[in-house]
Order: sequence, then C-alpha cells, then structure tokens
Amino acid sequence: MLDLHCHMLPGVDDGAPDLESALAIARAMVALGYTHVAPSPHTGGGVGGDVSTATNETTRELLGRALVDAGIGLTLLANAEHCVGPILFDRLPRGATCIGRDSRWLLVELPWERVPQPEQLLFRLQTKGYRLLLAHPERYSYIDLATVERLVERGVRMQVELGSFVDVYGDRARGRAEKMVEKGLVHVLASDIHRPKQALEWLGPALAAVRDLYGEAALRRATHENPNAIVKDATATALEPMTSS
Ligand SMILES: [Fe+2]
Repeated sequence: MLDLHCHMLPGVDDGAPDLESALAIARAMVALGYTHVAPSPHTGGGVGGDVSTATNETTRELLGRALVDAGIGLTLLANAEHCVGPILFDRLPRGATCIGRDSRWLLVELPWERVPQPEQLLFRLQTKGYRLLLAHPERYSYIDLATVERLVERGVRMQVELGSFVDVYGDRARGRAEKMVEKGLVHVLASDIHRPKQALEWLGPALAAVRDLYGEAALRRATHENPNAIVKDATATALEPMTSS
C-alpha cells in the first residue's frame, strides 16, 4: 500500500513532533501493510504550517536514513500538502513539490474557512498544468456533494480520509465519505496521520471497515492502484473511482 497523505516528517509541521514519533508511525503503518508513504508536510500557509521545499527534502532524506538504520521497510516518496491560496500561486513560477518525483500531481487542500469561488481556484491551478488530488473533500463545511461532482467532472480527483469511515471526523464526514463512494467520487484513501496514537488506534480499524463495506478490490484500488498510478503521472481519466463490490 502507498499512503499519499501523511504528516510523519519529524518536527516540521503539526505532524510527528520528533524522530521517535515518526519511527513509531512508520512501524505501525508497516504492520498494517504499507510499503510506501509520500509524507505530505503542510505548505502554503494554512493552519498546519508552511514547510519549505528545502526543509521537506532534507527531512525526508533524514527520516529515510533513520528508517533504514532502524530496519523498517518503508520507502518515502516526495510530496507536500499545498494549501490553495495566494502564497501557493505566488510560488508556482518557481515550481511546487509534486506527488512522487516526476508527476504533475499536486496534493491540495482548501482553507477550512469558506473561500470565495473554491472551484475557480482549483481550475486556475489546473490551467498551470497541474493534476489535482483534493485532500479530504468530505470535511470542508462549504463544499457540498454537487460541488464535488462538478470538480470530478473537471478532472479533480478526490482523496478521502480513512479515518472518516470510523468517525474520526464525526458523523457528517462519515456520511459524506460513504455517499461519495456510492456516487463513484472517491479515488484515493489516505491516512492523514499526524501522531503515532492515530496510526495505532484507528488506522487498522479504518482499513478493516473499508474492506468490510466495499471489499478488498475497492480498498486496493484506493490505497494501492490509484496512488501508484498518480506517482507514475497517470492522467485523471485513467484513475477509476472505488466502487462497492
Ligand atoms: Fe493533511
């Protein structure tokens, strides 16, 4: 399995506070079947922080070496969680960290507080040549299912939180996550883990819940096939949504 949304880089954002925590997250994820993680530190000045590209890269290399030293079989790939806003647009001419080394896919999050015309913001990013994976669409208060449908029609792909299926983000997020699967609007499931406790307490039950609800093939599509296709720079239309089997 490949996780495309995870705050395990030590000491850079609101995720793992130190190397010990990062290694604990890694151990828990390997035990659940993950072989690859693309850690996604917050960047662009949202509530989670603004980690520079240089800090992202050096910290990923540091953690990669620590994983080898600790004998933990987890491979790290490039990634960042970009908050969509003026800071991101200002920096884009100098490039942005995409998912994996050679893709044009960006993991993006919208601000938690309502922004005017969120769809236009995302489409503007697409016109700059990026493919978009939108983080946790089920959790924004101001994004409804109709908006998600329009975004998917326009080529934005959806990353829903594994924790949403076990009520980590409340009833509304759970209901919307389930509705999105029913409507064929979910392409990737990711952990968005910030602390070892989460990886140990609910990540396993969340994977089991998705397997029970939708079957092994659906879980595999959203945690393995589609994430790997994104790393290989597949087009948005090449990604099949997860469906119930
Ligand atoms: Fe995140």
